[in-house]
Amino acid sequence: MIETVRDEVRVLWRLLAGQPRRGTHAHRLDRFYGPQAAAYDRTREHLLHGKRLLVDLLDLPPDAHVVELGAGTGALLDLLGPRVAQCRRIDLVDLCEPLLAVARQRAAGHPGVHVAHADATRWQPDARPDVVVLSYALTMIPDWYAAIDHALAMLAPGGVLAVADFHVSRRDPPPGFERHGAFTRHFWPMWFGHDGVRPNPDHLPYLAHRCRTLVQLERRGSVPWLPGVRVPFYVFIGRPR
Ligand SMILES: C[S@@+](CC[C@H](N)C(=O)[O-])C[C@H]1O[C@@H](n2cnc3c(N)ncnc32)[C@H](O)[C@@H]1O
Repeated sequence: MIETVRDEVRVLWRLLAGQPRRGTHAHRLDRFYGPQAAAYDRTREHLLHGKRLLVDLLDLPPDAHVVELGAGTGALLDLLGPRVAQCRRIDLVDLCEPLLAVARQRAAGHPGVHVAHADATRWQPDARPDVVVLSYALTMIPDWYAAIDHALAMLAPGGVLAVADFHVSRRDPPPGFERHGAFTRHFWPMWFGHDGVRPNPDHLPYLAHRCRTLVQLERRGSVPWLPGVRVPFYVFIGRPR
């Protein structure tokens, strides 16, 4: 109990202090997540709502090769549960060493799971995957266009890109997309930007532009430490055009 409260305070302190402004992107991620790594999963469980929804909606082909870019602690393995053993291979890729240390512990005992310390915009798979997952990673990747383009380019024929993340709409979104009010559009990028998380009105339209959409959901979820407040997120699954 005392350890849980200590973890909570440590994470809250890191979030309030924000992501360090100096150093390389990898260095800033290490310094931001290092003190939070042990408590990461527990403290994000009630914030990253789209993650479970995305995995529930994923129709994995038998013997699938799955790649997660920006995989963090590898919590995807827990969400997939028994489906991990049915996959041919799962690659967990991230640039943050402290989070990957947790992912390596999770991957132990799963011979088909591989953990790679690499930039999501450049990492190359050994074979073309059937599914690439980006779960709450696009908002943290500075060159997010490159991350989407790279993910789509590596997919095997018929493969799918599966994305969940925080979201704000454009002021004038395309037909079929939700429109958020001015407060929502400005508040969330400012709130999360302090921690290096950048909800962007162009993420979802760009995904829809590059892919044939299979699933597109826009929802809102609760935020720990902000009672009554609900943050927009989306879940998107598509095939490259
Ligand atoms: C909010 S966390 C999400 C982690 C995990 N996917 C989840 O759903 O819990 C964002 C992750 O993106 C990673 N990340 C940010 N920029 C990256 C990059 N250029 N290449 C690889 N990973 C990156 C961070 O280190 C972090 O683990």
